[in-house]
Amino acid sequence: MPPSGREFPARTGRFSPGRSKTGDRREQGPPPTGAKSAPRSGDAEGATRKTLDRVLSRAGVGSRTVAAEWIREGRVRVNGRVVRDPDVWVDPENDRVLLDGRVLRPRDRLYVLLYKPRGYLCTREDPEKRPTIYDLVADVKSWVFNVGRLDLDTSGLLILTNDTDLGELLTNPAYKVSKTYLVKSSTRLDDEQIQRLRDGVTLSDGVTQPAEVVRLRDSEKYTHLAITIREGRNRQVRRMLEAVDSKVLKLVRTHIGPISIGKLQIGQHRPLSAEEVKTLKDLAEAAAGTGGVAGGSSSSKTSAAKQRMHQIREESSERWSSHEDD
Ligand code: URA
Repeated sequence: MPPSGREFPARTGRFSPGRSKTGDRREQGPPPTGAKSAPRSGDAEGATRKTLDRVLSRAGVGSRTVAAEWIREGRVRVNGRVVRDPDVWVDPENDRVLLDGRVLRPRDRLYVLLYKPRGYLCTREDPEKRPTIYDLVADVKSWVFNVGRLDLDTSGLLILTNDTDLGELLTNPAYKVSKTYLVKSSTRLDDEQIQRLRDGVTLSDGVTQPAEVVRLRDSEKYTHLAITIREGRNRQVRRMLEAVDSKVLKLVRTHIGPISIGKLQIGQHRPLSAEEVKTLKDLAEAAAGTGGVAGGSSSSKTSAAKQRMHQIREESSERWSSHEDD
């Protein structure tokens, strides 16, 4: 269900009728005038057209999957007519889209930084009724989704937002936004094992890309590391440690790009500042533009990496001691 009491300010304009992606005619109402199909390249109007489920999702009212259900249930009207096909193309600039009788327009963007504790699932609902991250952000007054996931047993920084564009920028592996993790390994790692982590190890889904790995401290039995990776493969850090014959005992994500978990307490959340949001967008867009890691020359990248590692070292001793039981 969409949150109640929502107001979606009106847009005006005609419903540029089209076919759905699957080619079905939209249903109900008089035959549309000026029928068009999906956007063509070079079609100026087409540049702004999107499928109806995406228009709803971009307005921040729910995921595309949920939006598609609402559409099929007949709760969405476009320019006065019920449309039950989520794949119909509409022009959000000109078409009047109503959900449950209320006019739709993009919501204010919302960005939340959550310190996920261990034992919480990154899912909206669990059939086994285990706690989820959405229990921790129940006070956030908008639909938001988690940008990427952390394993049940991983704690640390998660971003939740209703901005699907930023979500795409941060999770698209092509944009290579870095993520930094603090790791406690189940064995004491020697230099050769650490170098292998840096160079790339072979996992079932291929060799990992070079990682930044800093030995933070050793005890008799364990090593504490900071690992920065730019991929987002499933259980990647755990599998990397297994590939060098060790295991992860504890995993905390401390950074996404330059955004740090800072002094946020476990289980708590805070809004991202406008500056943090801008930094993230700039970073991901720069990476997209250069086809790789964001940043200028390779020497400036190296010095930025060194600076980050210095900061991580500084923060990590405090982080480990204050959250040893996260
Ligand atoms: N790597 C992992 O192994 N798990 C996570 O949750 C995140 C990265």
